[in-house]
Amino acid sequence: MSELNKIALKIISNGKGILAADESNATMTKRLESVNITSTPENRLLFREIIFSSKNMKECIGGVILYDETINQITSFGKSIPDLISSSDTIPGIKVDTGAKDLANSSEEKITEGLDGLRERLKKYYKLGARFTKWRGVYALSDRYPSELAIHSNAHALARYSALVQENGMVPIVEPEVLMDGDHSADLCLRKTSEVIKRCFEELILNKVDLSGIILKPNMILAGNKSKNKISNEEVSQKTLECLKNSVPSEVPGIAFLSGGQSEIEATENLNLINKNNNTKFIMTYSYGRALQKSALKKWSKNIKDREPTQNTFNHRAKMCSLAAKGKWSKELEYK
Ligand code: G3H
Repeated sequence: MSELNKIALKIISNGKGILAADESNATMTKRLESVNITSTPENRLLFREIIFSSKNMKECIGGVILYDETINQITSFGKSIPDLISSSDTIPGIKVDTGAKDLANSSEEKITEGLDGLRERLKKYYKLGARFTKWRGVYALSDRYPSELAIHSNAHALARYSALVQENGMVPIVEPEVLMDGDHSADLCLRKTSEVIKRCFEELILNKVDLSGIILKPNMILAGNKSKNKISNEEVSQKTLECLKNSVPSEVPGIAFLSGGQSEIEATENLNLINKNNNTKFIMTYSYGRALQKSALKKWSKNIKDREPTQNTFNHRAKMCSLAAKGKWSKELEYK
């Protein structure tokens, strides 16, 4: 077993998943302002240190993805953020892309940037304690998109990123996110997501990436958020499994889904069914941002100094996601 494979498995095994706390300052500002909290470095740190000190981190969260500002911050009790995360036996990770920019010659699509100077930044993050990384490619979905150009360009960037990350002793999360915005059908999402993922693996193989030392972070197969033809949770799980079975090479140790705008309960229920019906040998778990933190953020905004209610809310969400990662979640446990 390679060192990278061991790290990947430690992050996602035994009902553990990933906490995606890597919102950029711009995104975190939107999240904080939505609950009437001013976005300052101090407030961003305070919310995150409360979450990272929660009891269920140890049992439920195998890895935390951080943003550059956060990985460099020191908590109010004097520990560095990576040390705080490691104290729960959780692995610190870091988002290393620099964002999705307009794709030249296809202005309604995006290409993710951040390859320039990446090797040097990776060395710095390794020294700070990071052992895994994230890069997110985003794809619009409609009858015209994603274009061949977007599929090719993002797969190429994800593969070059992954090769550099492994060269520096860390596990790359490969995140090709086909967005849920729009009125597309679930079948179109299934077709296009399969094509996107297959192309990512073609490029990863071309770049000699060790597939046993990556984690795939895809979207689930859903109808668009404006579609009139929504599908059931059971169908989401079946179509998601069909997609992954046909497009992911067997060496990949596991798949950690993004929540992508699903509600907390929807993301939990869908993951639970995916695991109940899992007829693959891949571990299927979560790498949720909003679906792990939304209610905790709301609770925290009532009194930002009061840690316990926020931690209780986060602990419950983390526990429910962890049960779903084992196919053991139920509505009774959720609302008990
Ligand atoms: O890149 C996306 C995030 O890491 C996951 O966030 O679960 O809110 O979609 P989300």
